[in-house]
Amino acid sequence: MKLPNFSKFSNLFKPKSYLGVDIGTSSLKIVQLSKQRETFRLDNYGEVKFFEENVPMEVHQQSSLKIPDEEIAELLKKIMAETKTTATQAAFSLPVFSAFSTIIEMPKLPQDEMEKAIQFEARQYVPIPISEVSLGFVVMGEEQKINQQTAGAAAPVPSGTFGRAALPQNAESKRKKNVEVLLVAVPNEIKNKYVHIAQLSGLELVAIEMETFPLARALLKGAHETTLVVDIGARSTDICIVDNGFVRISHNFEFSGVDITKAYGEFTHTDFAEAEKRKIVTGLDLTPGQLDGAKNLLSIVDNIINECERIMSSYFNKTGRVVGHVVLSGGVSKMPGFLERFGEKLPAGGEARNGRLIDVSLGDPFEGLIYPPELGKTLKDIGPSFAVAVGLAMRR
Ligand SMILES: Nc1ncnc2c1ncn2[C@@H]1O[C@H](COP(=O)(O)OP(=O)(O)OP(=O)(O)O)[C@@H](O)[C@H]1O
Ligand SMILES: [Mg+2]
Repeated sequence: MKLPNFSKFSNLFKPKSYLGVDIGTSSLKIVQLSKQRETFRLDNYGEVKFFEENVPMEVHQQSSLKIPDEEIAELLKKIMAETKTTATQAAFSLPVFSAFSTIIEMPKLPQDEMEKAIQFEARQYVPIPISEVSLGFVVMGEEQKINQQTAGAAAPVPSGTFGRAALPQNAESKRKKNVEVLLVAVPNEIKNKYVHIAQLSGLELVAIEMETFPLARALLKGAHETTLVVDIGARSTDICIVDNGFVRISHNFEFSGVDITKAYGEFTHTDFAEAEKRKIVTGLDLTPGQLDGAKNLLSIVDNIINECERIMSSYFNKTGRVVGHVVLSGGVSKMPGFLERFGEKLPAGGEARNGRLIDVSLGDPFEGLIYPPELGKTLKDIGPSFAVAVGLAMRR
């Protein structure tokens, strides 16, 4: 929607605006933000679904990477026109499964030497030929100067940080006089697809980011506590642990919203479209009589929770660091009863680690942004679905 112009000075100062474009499995979401001093103002936002609800289930699970560029661009232009966006520069997100990222240790080197060394080193880590990927890197603990560098029309400029302050390196790296480097590799085929979609839509693509990075940026806004961030979308669930300002681990698996709808349909004997409605209205707020029939549904939800628990344990075993917060996002996190079940199931593992309970909350990417107060409730409701798009628009 296009927001009312609530700042009478906005035209005077003409702040620069950026567009975040999240091409998800079920829908395309956009957010335009403009920088106002140290914060961001929400200019516009919008969402357009890819499919009608009554298409076959397989279509709902189809990756957006399979949709023709022209179709995505048409929808993007439509939603930009409807919401009256004005930004010409955009950042797009990539599904986690489509790219590759890792943290490697490197000696401290000047920028140009680091670039060469990374090109060489990356061969060991990237599972496909280096000639077929575009590489990006960030030296962790430094400001992201690399973010401003673009090779060609739109280099995939990865970003592992979400705050602006320089952050301390891990103690081990300091001792060794080495630095940790976040390496991201995006297959050229996917990068070219996104460049093409941007061109067809009349946008300048300034960055392509794996979705965990904008997610962390939008939801944590520079907080340094060890936090697990989950995005449960239509097709996949992304989990990442953010520690000291950096995404340290990201993981992705295909248990998600469409599976929940399918299980809901089985349990309520309804078709996909009806099950989708019931999932959104009733969700996990089931009567004791319904619980028995909903075993499959609950086991999908519990699988997601268990996977988060597993990632937290593995991080603790590797680093000794305890996750204190879990922030939920993605459409599924809005399901009635979901947050409560997450909170109930998770503390068991948390108690095993120093008796600390884990605080579980719903993500609010619009928190701290400037927007008309009358939109407060709407933005709180839609927030968990818009985290990736907000984080992309916050990139500059
Ligand atoms: N209030 C709600 N309750 C339950 N489920 C919901 C609710 N709102 C949306 N969903 C579900 O969330 C999913 C869509 O979420 P989201 O928009 O985050 O996914 P996406 O970004 O399109 O997909 P992905 O991230 O997997 O590519 C759908 O399965 C939808 O049914
Ligand atoms: Mg998504």
